[in-house]
Amino acid sequence: MDEQGRVVGSAALAVEEAVVETSLRPRILAEYIGQEKVKANLRILLEAARQRGEAADHILLYGPPGLGKTTLANIVARELGVSIHTTSGPAIERPGDLAAILTNLDERDVLFIDEIHRLNHAVEEILYPAMEDFAIDVMIGKGPSARSLRLNIKPFTVVGATTRAGRISSPLRDRFGAVHRLDYYETGELATIVARSAGILGVSIDHEAVEVLARRGRGTPRIVNRLLKRVRDFAQVKSDGRISAREADAAMLAMDIDDEGLDTTDRRLLAAIVQKFASGPVGGAAVAAILGEEVETIEDVYEPYLLQLGFLDRTPQGRVATERAREHLRKLGYDVPPPRRQERVDSGLWDGVTTEGAPPE
Ligand SMILES: Nc1ncnc2c1ncn2[C@@H]1O[C@H](COP(=O)(O)OP(=O)(O)OP(=O)(O)O)[C@@H](O)[C@H]1O
Ligand SMILES: [Mg+2]
Repeated sequence: MDEQGRVVGSAALAVEEAVVETSLRPRILAEYIGQEKVKANLRILLEAARQRGEAADHILLYGPPGLGKTTLANIVARELGVSIHTTSGPAIERPGDLAAILTNLDERDVLFIDEIHRLNHAVEEILYPAMEDFAIDVMIGKGPSARSLRLNIKPFTVVGATTRAGRISSPLRDRFGAVHRLDYYETGELATIVARSAGILGVSIDHEAVEVLARRGRGTPRIVNRLLKRVRDFAQVKSDGRISAREADAAMLAMDIDDEGLDTTDRRLLAAIVQKFASGPVGGAAVAAILGEEVETIEDVYEPYLLQLGFLDRTPQGRVATERAREHLRKLGYDVPPPRRQERVDSGLWDGVTTEGAPPE
């Protein structure tokens, strides 16, 4: 299935979906479900900034796709009563582009930089003094007579978002006063999100069906919202439009989503590791090659939830499928050969061998 069609995928959103996502997006902190610790910290930070009439401290949000980073960035601006300017790491190509954005900000505005780990180095150099001293250094002239001139800009707040905290340089990271990690949501929280979204979309769904979606939502608000939309279509075409557990289950079956919320790509990933690599360890590049996906997509989109479920482990040698993963595949009727790690423990035969028979990485 292509990325766009995947319910769990992270590809750029189709226009129609982007519109729905916007309408479902909580606008104030009180509407934002879950992430209680992050919300409690932000509440204090925002209230303090409001009381002092100052720009709020810079905020870095990180965590897997679809957990609500962009949503929170917008909420921060709204709660502060200021404008938000949205850009992203790859969109800012030259230092001058960032300087232009910075000089256009109003007092206390929020500058939201998505995918902030992808800022290039020259652009980052402009951001440091801007964040720290609300100033930018511009070069005047060329050659021996060139000199640097410091320009003051209005105090502002950077909200940075990334799925890859590890990729952010430490000088950049150090300039954020608040660093928050978003975690996967509990089933109960996802159920609340499904019920809220159903209300906004005018969909009639019963309690049991809400549970079916929440349990298969991979801990991710964006995914439960997508599941809800698919199930709504299903119920509309196949029955009277009302969603009960029966419609929800049938829709999941039609979409090939199993009771852990995994879809065909997830299962292909697990099956590849289990069957072709004797449960690993195996490098990300080999897995990516088998699935025909980018390594980055595997690492950002598929693996985090499989790790969270305890289906995968990461070792210095690579990924390892766990007994839980083998059990899940067995239950679904897959052929599950014994794991290599087990053999190594038993016989020592496999010591030092990690990717025998694997395609070159
Ligand atoms: N806490 C929440 N409560 C209710 N709905 C939420 C919450 N968090 C996210 N959502 C819903 O999930 C959708 C996706 O969230 P968002 O776009 O903020 O994720 P993201 O972390 O920025 O993802 P990405 O890393 O892909 O940019 C939102 O449009 C919103 O409808
Ligand atoms: Mg986002």
